[in-house]
Amino acid sequence: MVGSGGREHALAKVLGRTADVVVTPGNAAIAGSTATSVEDLVALGSVDLVVIGPEQPLVDGLADRLRATGVAVFGPGADGAQVEGSKAYMKDLARAAGLPTARYGAFTELEPALAFLQSLPGSYVVKTDGLAAGKGVLVTDFLADAEADVRDKLAGSSFGDAGRRVVIEEGLTGPEVSVFAICDGTRAVCLPAAQDFKRVGDGDVGPNTGGIGAWSPLPFVADGFIDDVARRFVEPTLAELRQRGIDYRGVLYAGFMITAEGPKLIEYNIRFGDPDSQVVLLRMTSDLAAMLFAAAAGDLTTVPPPTFADDAAVLVVAASEGYPAAPRTGDVIQGLAAAEAVEGVTVLGAGVKANADGAWVTAGGRVLNVVGRGPDVATARARAYEAIGLLSWPGMHHRSDIAG
Ligand code: AMP
Ligand code: GLY
Repeated sequence: MVGSGGREHALAKVLGRTADVVVTPGNAAIAGSTATSVEDLVALGSVDLVVIGPEQPLVDGLADRLRATGVAVFGPGADGAQVEGSKAYMKDLARAAGLPTARYGAFTELEPALAFLQSLPGSYVVKTDGLAAGKGVLVTDFLADAEADVRDKLAGSSFGDAGRRVVIEEGLTGPEVSVFAICDGTRAVCLPAAQDFKRVGDGDVGPNTGGIGAWSPLPFVADGFIDDVARRFVEPTLAELRQRGIDYRGVLYAGFMITAEGPKLIEYNIRFGDPDSQVVLLRMTSDLAAMLFAAAAGDLTTVPPPTFADDAAVLVVAASEGYPAAPRTGDVIQGLAAAEAVEGVTVLGAGVKANADGAWVTAGGRVLNVVGRGPDVATARARAYEAIGLLSWPGMHHRSDIAG
């Protein structure tokens, strides 16, 4: 497994139920972490499957380089990775596949970009075309703010080259829902829906983060939603990718907004959500390693459909001071053992490392993912917050309204 965050901690735990897992580089919290590179591990000859966690190495072609050595890889090649690596590519794919999505335009020049903004009905979304660690998106009701953001992005002053092309969209409203589709190039299996909380502050205020809380299952999602997503979004997308010569083996993570007109696709990502997939993966009761191996081998029909515990999971991120703008690191984490002892709680290490004494210290913005599970959402939530209350370091903060 390649990666080092809370997502990889959850994946390593669930894969570890049925497989021997080594994580590179991993982190202090993840058993089986190693500094040896994935290339060197594969060269040893005992690796059956590589699972690539984050998007950047996929965009950079790591899956292609590893597949060329003959090993099975769960994660798309650089061709499929454009689905996340370029928002303009994703929107064009959505249009070609006929998927409901927000009206948009892609621009490298200022004047047509401003003209398109002025044609929109009053809620504006400006995205960097390239990867920006989940932070390249402005959503605003103010035209002047959207115009200023377009100028900064196109000039390269706010996001460097990632912003030299922008995608401008009409703003949609409604709850957001994440669906993870496990794809074998031809077929897909969709996991239960989760919801991610993006804004740093209670009541959805403040800047966007990479995701600061999550829960699953979602009581507001209609029966049949997942089947509808598979039929109307994921299958046409895989067909369009195949048409473009792309054999997509990995997760297709679809982010939806449930609007008054039904679900609309906001984004595709090429990897599991972080932290939104943790609340799905930890509830899985079937063999994840076998399923990802089958997908990597190109035939999901060789494994039974996945199964999940009939409970609820609520995840609260414990973040460091200054996150998301400028996270402070290096603080010793207190209360870990007590938090982990709370019934139904799993503490995932996201931005952590060990200091010289072996204690965990903060090493990133999103430090810990505290996951509470229980027979219902209220219990899962109470357990997560009980554990959060036992953790501390200077400047630690969290939202207090996740799944509330
Ligand atoms: P993205 O990187 O495309 O997922 O965008 C990040 C976040 O911006 C999403 O999770 C939404 O909260 C918000 N967002 C993106 N596109 C839109 C849109 N068309 N309308 C409203 N909000 C959006
Ligand atoms: N939590 C949102 C993402 O992983 O992109």
